[in-house]
Amino acid sequence: MLALSSLPCLPPAASTPIGAEVRRGLTSRPKTLSPWLFYDQRGSELFEAITELPEYYLTRTERGLFARCGDDILAAAGSPRLAILELGAGTAAKTGLLLQAAVRRQGSVTYYPIDISASALEHARRNISQQLPQVTVKPRVADYTTSLDVIPSSGCRRLVLYIGSSIGNFDPSQAAALLRALRRRLAPGDLLLLGVDHIKDRGTLLRAYNDAAGVTAEFNRNALLRINRDLGAAFRPRLFRHRALWNEPESRIEMHLESLVPQQVPIPALEIAIQFRRGETIHTENSYKFTPGSVCRLLARCGFSPVQDWTDPRRWFGLYLVAAA
Ligand code: TRP
Repeated sequence: MLALSSLPCLPPAASTPIGAEVRRGLTSRPKTLSPWLFYDQRGSELFEAITELPEYYLTRTERGLFARCGDDILAAAGSPRLAILELGAGTAAKTGLLLQAAVRRQGSVTYYPIDISASALEHARRNISQQLPQVTVKPRVADYTTSLDVIPSSGCRRLVLYIGSSIGNFDPSQAAALLRALRRRLAPGDLLLLGVDHIKDRGTLLRAYNDAAGVTAEFNRNALLRINRDLGAAFRPRLFRHRALWNEPESRIEMHLESLVPQQVPIPALEIAIQFRRGETIHTENSYKFTPGSVCRLLARCGFSPVQDWTDPRRWFGLYLVAAA
């Protein structure tokens, strides 16, 4: 009886993934929130909208590279036959161009899109099967950061796509751990195509994460709405300003939510209230930027050897094809 009453009694929401993450992040100093909180239904829609913004050059530039260099990439990948896998495939909007190139080269191809969102994968499967009947789509619902065992031991050689500069959303030690874990799942001769954003002038970088129409700001603040909905919190998104800043020493864009006033926000499901000073921020996302040299060093440290790379005329974005060494 006495022993029992001294056990800490946490409310049930505190042990859900979102409850645990919000408690951890908002009681840390500085305050942080993990980027996966962005991607509820609304967040995924806003992210799709970001990829079409005039300021957000990344998706457009990478798609242009796939259109222009797709056949080259498949030729550099060589023979024999390849199966194509994609980490964080989402709706696979850009991937069709590479799958087309694979169909031109080898007649047909099996495509394994891996994503945490079952609905995005269903979208991908429908689009690709309709437009490219020579592609067999085998979706896998999984979190590739924790379960790379979903990578099929296909009879073919494998080409893994990890595009969209998603590797840049991990800090350098996590990025290296992820690439090493991937390397361990691959056989010698399997390939990785990594798409990364290059360092460029600060104005261009900042505009890509702080667009004039305010879509990225809404995307960032959507994390607060999600916490309100899932944990009964009382965030007033208008009292938080979206901030993007270029951290030059770390080579990364940082996204923050800055409290415009001193305030206290109750989170009933966690039985806590969070204090904010005026100007205090929640750090919600990093997007690391690379040089060709820094990408190649990272890949070499993780057990991959260079095959070929491609960039656009302005050198804004890079595609790096490497082989499991
Ligand atoms: N990986 C891309 C990037 O860093 C996409 C992305 C992830 C993103 N989170 C984002 C874009 C938040 C805008 C805002 O740019």
